[in-house]
Amino acid sequence: SPAPAWVNLHELAEHARTRLTPAAWAYFSGAAADGHTLAANRADWDALRLWPRVLRPLTDSDTAIELAGQRWAHPIGLAPVAFQRWAHPDGEMGSALAAAAQGAGLVLSSQSSVAVEHVARAMCEPGAGPLWFQLYWQRERAHTLALVQRAEAAGCQALVLTVDAPVQGVRDAERRAGFQRPPGVSAVHLADFPSPQADLPTLLAQAPTWDEVTWLAAHTRLPLWLKGVLHPDDARQAAATGAVAGLIVSNHGGRVLDTTVSTAWALPRVVDATALPVLVDGGIRRGTDVVKALALGARAVLVGRPQVEALAVNGALGVAQMLRLLRDEFAAALALCGCRHPAEVSRALLA
Ligand code: FNR
Repeated sequence: SPAPAWVNLHELAEHARTRLTPAAWAYFSGAAADGHTLAANRADWDALRLWPRVLRPLTDSDTAIELAGQRWAHPIGLAPVAFQRWAHPDGEMGSALAAAAQGAGLVLSSQSSVAVEHVARAMCEPGAGPLWFQLYWQRERAHTLALVQRAEAAGCQALVLTVDAPVQGVRDAERRAGFQRPPGVSAVHLADFPSPQADLPTLLAQAPTWDEVTWLAAHTRLPLWLKGVLHPDDARQAAATGAVAGLIVSNHGGRVLDTTVSTAWALPRVVDATALPVLVDGGIRRGTDVVKALALGARAVLVGRPQVEALAVNGALGVAQMLRLLRDEFAAALALCGCRHPAEVSRALLA
């Protein structure tokens, strides 16, 4: 058989670059300003040193975890990434089929280019991972509520409110490329709402606060997660509301505010501040990154860019291959650290 075109997620990115238009590549790969946070996310996972144990029993190894009362086949999920039909005609449907096939959780962006009802149908097969819906706070509470109800009706199992992007980041590469999305690639859930074009003071006046978090939790039967928390004091405040089911430590993949702390740095601080379950994303590209995230207290990880890169290269099959590769790397790293299960991973595995 021919040699595979890519054998790791770094090569996958290089491959995707050749498949996408310059504008699409600028959008999917881009970061805020000088890309310091983007680089720090990667560098800080790399810099952590594993301190493995040997000669431990490894029979009956299993990558499964339990999260929020549900079984995940492994602790690797797909982060919300907008406008996926810009990467491949199947868009989010391709990612959903792959997630279902690989038992991976999927967080669908509210800026998805495929409707949640379609995605949900792909993820209702036995063995499919959970489907969560990501929300950006809308200008009108009624619009936010309409999204929530749509996600509930489609069968989503949790809501993820993204709290780290009340305004757009400064994205040089996108501005240079013009951010011209092709016709036919649009945020289908937001089509009926007025265009979000607004000046900065208007956006700031509409930015959600803790009051909106409490309000949102009171208006849904789904567990509410917050995505984009980096500070332990925010984690404590989230727990104090009693309205939040879990936290996702994230800096939006370095796309919003440049020069923030990396997620590997923030993760243990957030974990130590609260008893809430914590997920993490940002720069996860290797099975060893997943082990390190679990060692620092994350229950699972999400991957962003590799998802659309895999879509661009090989559609749904590409995303399934990407998830399988990362999962296999994770299983090998787990065993090489002397652990049979994710639950056996602790901070003692880090030097
Ligand atoms: C994102 N991300 C994102 N997050 C979110 O909450 N809603 C969204 O619609 C999007 N859209 C989006 C588009 C693109 C092109 C990217 C790359 C990212 C952020 C995403 O969920 C996640 O936090 C990061 O992508 C994680 O970092 P890595 O894995 O890309 O390094």
